Amino acid sequence: MAVLVCGGAGYIGSHMVAALIEKGEEVVVLDNFQKGHKKAVLGGRVYEGDIRDKVILNKIFSENSIDSVIDFAADSLVGESVLEPLKYFNNNISGTINLLEVMKDYGVKHIVFSSTAATYGEPKNIPIKEEDDTIPTNPYGESKLAVEKILKWCDKAYGIKYTALRYFNAAGAHINGKIGEDHRPETHLIPIILQVALGKREAITIFGEDYPTKDGTCIRDYIHVMDLAKAHSLALDRLRKGGDSRIYNLGNGQGFSVKEVIEVARKVTGEPIKAEIAERRKGDPAVLVASSKKIIDELGWIPEFNSIETIINTAWNWYKNHPDGYND
Ligand code: UFG
Repeated sequence: MAVLVCGGAGYIGSHMVAALIEKGEEVVVLDNFQKGHKKAVLGGRVYEGDIRDKVILNKIFSENSIDSVIDFAADSLVGESVLEPLKYFNNNISGTINLLEVMKDYGVKHIVFSSTAATYGEPKNIPIKEEDDTIPTNPYGESKLAVEKILKWCDKAYGIKYTALRYFNAAGAHINGKIGEDHRPETHLIPIILQVALGKREAITIFGEDYPTKDGTCIRDYIHVMDLAKAHSLALDRLRKGGDSRIYNLGNGQGFSVKEVIEVARKVTGEPIKAEIAERRKGDPAVLVASSKKIIDELGWIPEFNSIETIINTAWNWYKNHPDGYND
C-alpha cells in the first residue's frame, strides 16, 4: 500500500517523504514544482502535476495502490494571500476538493491535512488550544479552515477519516544535511537571519519593536520540520488502525521573540548578524504559542529536536553547505 504525498517537493513535504522512506513506506509524490524542488525529493515515484488537475490525479490513483494521502500542496504566504485571496481559495480549497473527489472515487479513506496556526487569527489565550476560537485574519488561514470544515462533511458522508495538523512555525532542516528550506522569495525569519550570517544579506529587518511582549518583538513557537514529519507519520498510523478524525496543534509550546531568535543565531553561527528595526508587518499577531498537549497525550508524539539552538543549528548546517539552496 502506498502513501501519496501531494506537495512532496516543498519544504515540509520533502522532509515527510524522507521520513516515510526511512520508515519503509511505499511513497508516491505529486508536485507541480512551482515552489518545490526536484532535488528535494529523496525517493518515491514522482509525478509532475497539480492537484487541481483530475487527469493526473486519476492517473496516479489508477497506477498505484494508494491507501492514504498526506496533503501539503498549497500556497502558504500570509501577506500574498491578503493581496490575492482568489489564488489562495482556488489552489488551497478547490485543489483539495479535487483531491477529495478522486479519493472518494477510488475509495481511499485516510488523509493527513496540512493546516495552520493561522486558522486561529489573533488568539485570546496563550498557549492556544484546539478548541479555541478560529477567526482567521487572512485568506491563507481562511482557506485552511474552510478545508478543515469540508473534511468534516466528507467524513460524515463518505467515511474519509482525516487528521488536520495546525502547524505553528516550521523551521530547521533534516539532520542528514541533504534537504532543507529553500523558498523563493524567502520571507521566513530563520532563513533570512542565516542569509545575513552567510553574508548574502546585509541585515535582518525586525518587523516591529512595539508589541506588548517582553522585548517588544513578536513571539512565535518554532517546531523542527522533522518533528512535524514524525507527527504526520503517527497520525497516519492511527488512521490506518481505524482511528477517527481529529485536529491537532503542532508546536513546542515555547515561545521565542524575534530578538531572542537572532541572539541564538549569533551564538550558533558565531557571526554578528546585523539587525535593523522597521515598522510592524501587517497581520502579524504579537504572540503565537501552541498547546500541543492533545497530540502528545493522544498520539504519543514527542518532539525530539525541540531546543531553538538545535533547530537553528540544523538550519545553519543546511545553509552553510547549500548557500544557494538546491541550486548548489
Ligand atoms: N520577521 C521579521 N523579519 C523578517 C521576517 C519575519 O521580523 O524578515 C518576524 C515576523 O514579523 C514574525 C516572525 O518573525 O513575527 C516569524 O515570521 P515568519 O515569516 O518566519 O513566520 P510567520 O509567523 O509569519 O508565519 C508562519 C508560517 C505561515 C503560517 C503562520 C501561522 O510561515 O505559513 O506561521 O501564523 F501561516
